[in-house]
Amino acid sequence: MPGDKSISHRALILGSIAEGQTEIRGFLAGEDCRRTLIALRNLGVLIDQVDETTVRINGAGMSGLNKPVKPLDLGNSGTSMRLFAGLLCGQRFNSKLIGDASLTARPMQRIIEPLSLMGARIESSNGKAPLMIHGGCDLVGIRYSLPIASAQVKSAILLAGLYANSETTVIESAVTRDHTERMLKSMGATLENDNGEIRAQIDGQLNATKIRVPADLSSAAFLILAALIAKDAEVLIRSVGVNPTRTGVIDILREMGADISIDNLQMIGEEPIADIQVRSSTLHGITVDSSLVSLAIDEFPVLFIAAALANGSTRFSGLRELRVKESDRIAVMVEGLREMGINIEDSEHSTEIYGGELAGGKVDSYGDHRIAMSFAVAGTVAKSTLRVGNIDTVDTSFPNFSDVMGYLGVDLSTQQSEKE
Ligand code: S3P
Repeated sequence: MPGDKSISHRALILGSIAEGQTEIRGFLAGEDCRRTLIALRNLGVLIDQVDETTVRINGAGMSGLNKPVKPLDLGNSGTSMRLFAGLLCGQRFNSKLIGDASLTARPMQRIIEPLSLMGARIESSNGKAPLMIHGGCDLVGIRYSLPIASAQVKSAILLAGLYANSETTVIESAVTRDHTERMLKSMGATLENDNGEIRAQIDGQLNATKIRVPADLSSAAFLILAALIAKDAEVLIRSVGVNPTRTGVIDILREMGADISIDNLQMIGEEPIADIQVRSSTLHGITVDSSLVSLAIDEFPVLFIAAALANGSTRFSGLRELRVKESDRIAVMVEGLREMGINIEDSEHSTEIYGGELAGGKVDSYGDHRIAMSFAVAGTVAKSTLRVGNIDTVDTSFPNFSDVMGYLGVDLSTQQSEKE
């Protein structure tokens, strides 16, 4: 299984500003994390990719980054752009952040606003990339209530806070993934989380460490779905990250009747991992509690497929953030599932999916990796061939997806789902 995308990004970024050599094992060598790695090299950090999943970073220290000679191209990666904005607004040099068409259409005002309150100077194109980050600003600490549940915004503020001359507090109303906080702690920072009021403080520096990246639960989710909807399947996925800020997908699927067990729970560094065992299950429709949305934010394409195959209807609400991911994930999933014969009622505030049988046909991923993989899995139980357009995009987060599906007995190029 590929390593966790969120943790791989953070390991590269925090390792780059730490003192000493950080070693990352289980690194996700997907396109998004590759963009972060190259951007850090362009900031002068010496990073050695020893093999596909092992990376060694010679930490440049808090003030050791250098002015990049060209714009930092972050491709499709929202995490990279938002975390880099936080990291770079407290440096003494200017930098420019650019991305692909999808990333350039995504909202950046959510980070520009709090970072500007800290004293950063960031120019954008109407709140979107490209972002011009001016260096030489003296940052001050802020107390900031996140208006949206976003780990990327929280992390951008915490990173900028490391360079501020007074304390920063980020206040979350909904819990979001806390990998930044855990990794900062493993590098010697003091972290407080007082009922959603989060503060990070360092004593002058971060200390390099060894980081083992767990398998990505967001990638495992496709295999979990594949096993649940197959006949007589049993799949064991080892050493998967089960940080409680990420496990909403398991809670939701279990409530739908999924047979999922978690064994061998242990800690690697500051992150919990476990083995996940899944057996074919008959799923039933539920009303998904909107308090679980931020804990399963990337798994709704998978959950929509589960809902399409469940008995009865499944109602989702509170999904607005899905509209500004790598694609408008609600619109794209609704379009594809309707194409496959599923009845869906979709309004501004909720989406209700009526379970049925999936016909084959043709759907498009709109260049969104998680949509491509969700439909590829849906294709394994479709009544006829499903052609999924733009599946190469899976490289963003799960480069060996076809191989792993092949291991489970699904030939993506020639069976139900076709690469175009
Ligand atoms: C991520 C946070 C989430 C998630 C994204 C990765 C991160 O985004 O959707 O894939 O690594 O911090 P938001 O924080 O914008 O919800």
